[in-house]
Amino acid sequence: MIRLAFPLMLIRTRKLDQHLSMIGLHFWSSVKRVKSKSWSQVYIKVLKETLLRHGYRFESDTDTEVIPKLAKFVYDRLSEGTSVNGEETQEVTFSQVVMEVMRQLEGAYALIFKSSHFPSELVACKCGSPLLLGVKDAAEPEMKMDQFINNDLLHDKRQGRPKEYFLASDGSAVVEHTKKVLVIEDNEIAHIKDGSLSIFKFDTAKARKIGGVPRPASVQRALSILEMEVEQIKKGKYDHYMQKEIHEQPDSLTTTMRGRLIRGGESKMKSVVLGGLKDHLRTIRRSRRIVFIGCGTSYNAALAARPIVEELSGVPVTMELASDLVDRQGPIYREDTAVFVSQSGETADTLQALEYAKSHGALCVGITNTVGSAIARGTHCGVHINAGCEIGVASTKAYTSQIAVMTMLALALGDDSISSRIRREAIIDDFFDLPSKVREVLKLDIEMKELANLLMEEQSLLIFGRGYNYATALEGALKVKEVALMHSEGILAGEMKHGPLALVDETLPIIVVATCDATFSKQQSVIQQLKARKGRLIVMCTKGDAPSLCSSGACRFIEVPHVEDCLQPIINIVPLQLLAYHLTVLRGYNVDQPRNLAKSVTTQ
Ligand code: F6R
Repeated sequence: MIRLAFPLMLIRTRKLDQHLSMIGLHFWSSVKRVKSKSWSQVYIKVLKETLLRHGYRFESDTDTEVIPKLAKFVYDRLSEGTSVNGEETQEVTFSQVVMEVMRQLEGAYALIFKSSHFPSELVACKCGSPLLLGVKDAAEPEMKMDQFINNDLLHDKRQGRPKEYFLASDGSAVVEHTKKVLVIEDNEIAHIKDGSLSIFKFDTAKARKIGGVPRPASVQRALSILEMEVEQIKKGKYDHYMQKEIHEQPDSLTTTMRGRLIRGGESKMKSVVLGGLKDHLRTIRRSRRIVFIGCGTSYNAALAARPIVEELSGVPVTMELASDLVDRQGPIYREDTAVFVSQSGETADTLQALEYAKSHGALCVGITNTVGSAIARGTHCGVHINAGCEIGVASTKAYTSQIAVMTMLALALGDDSISSRIRREAIIDDFFDLPSKVREVLKLDIEMKELANLLMEEQSLLIFGRGYNYATALEGALKVKEVALMHSEGILAGEMKHGPLALVDETLPIIVVATCDATFSKQQSVIQQLKARKGRLIVMCTKGDAPSLCSSGACRFIEVPHVEDCLQPIINIVPLQLLAYHLTVLRGYNVDQPRNLAKSVTTQ
């Protein structure tokens, strides 16, 4: 039996010139006509135009539809006894058709093919995008991890055991059926025929060069065991995954910290152990720059950690949104350390930036939540955040664990400095209190629901932050816009007078993050200026600080517990996550699958 769970099918194609002649058709004139568009647009457009010229009709404008039509074209050509290169062929096999299609495509895709010509067969392949195969053997409940998957082992007929196969883009989709998985790699083909599985590898680049598919090699692959429990993918007592994941943060942070923070006795120093980086810390300390690279929430987490990494390592830190780095082909040097932050480890933009940084010789460090993900595999070294499976599209617990890991990275980088020892030890002490402080801040749930009730009809919400909490403002606003579908903007408070102040009036709600840190007095002054313009203020402050911020009763407060400044963003984001969650429920939107968004953004 074969089940498909969340298969991802997409195509991004480029390098058209390499492919045009291979399909035995003439595309060049069409290419010149549409040259102003991007290569992927051009390629798919030309491929489609060619198929149209051969009588194919399309029902949609999606790139995906081009692939099955191309498969049909290839099948017909091969069956006519002429390969796409004009060579004679023998019997057409399903894998052969798929390999020929793969040879024509370039870019990211994960594809599963079914065909009425091959009724009891299925072929899966991928390039760039994630695809894994779950294997469940009903008659043999336990298969050891070091057993190899190969054509013999999986040959059901010979062994007389029924097997079930599951194809998915993510382990969470298969874990309730089986924990035994095989991560399909680029240029591999998984061919299931009459219940037995064969895995082949072939070199697409070589195939393009020689203009034909070389004989594929059958490969042996080890099964891996998913490090995930079924409970992790159940909602339990919660109504939504996002709600569950927000409330899980005391536990996810504990898991992130486990075994990594050492609180020695009287004579022993407190320190941090990041096993995946221990051989690279010297290189990172000597880097010309540390470049944090990510998208969305992962970028925001890196932004929150940037000041402490700069402070403790002494190395300049620059921030890059992955897509922007690639668009600009921004400078990356071999003396740089490029840190790739990604919950899924599969984000296409981040992956492309990784390839780019690697090609420029930088040391590439991965910070991901997904063991075995493309970013975890593609980087030179890294740290898993161990936040546990995150299912809600809006990232919550991964964000706080990412900040925790990057703060630990800062501590590890500063480990050789005597002058920062007291500071480092204070941070380590507060790390240990973090889960209980997050538990405390989660008690604001009802208060945040009331606030959501007040704000649910609003059109817009501004969030001002600075220093460590500029990231809190960006991330809070991202949560509100992506799930509650309410316009929201995170603003650097230092920029207030350079434009945003013009928006302030008595109607627009504004959250100001003004917890106790080195920027506190500046935030006090921001609050005074907003009040002077009759701003509708909600102030997030450290417990006990409310009177010094706004004594006239003109503001509403969100009071949070105090921790060391660099850990405060972990505390401060929680009420904003709760606010976004309640706003979404009250406004009647889908919490876990917001409109138009996907959990892993595997396209560009
Ligand atoms: C927002 C969110 C996205 C992701 C972004 C990067 O809640 O989840 O902004 O953070 O798509 O995804 P990863 O971290 O998987 O690379």
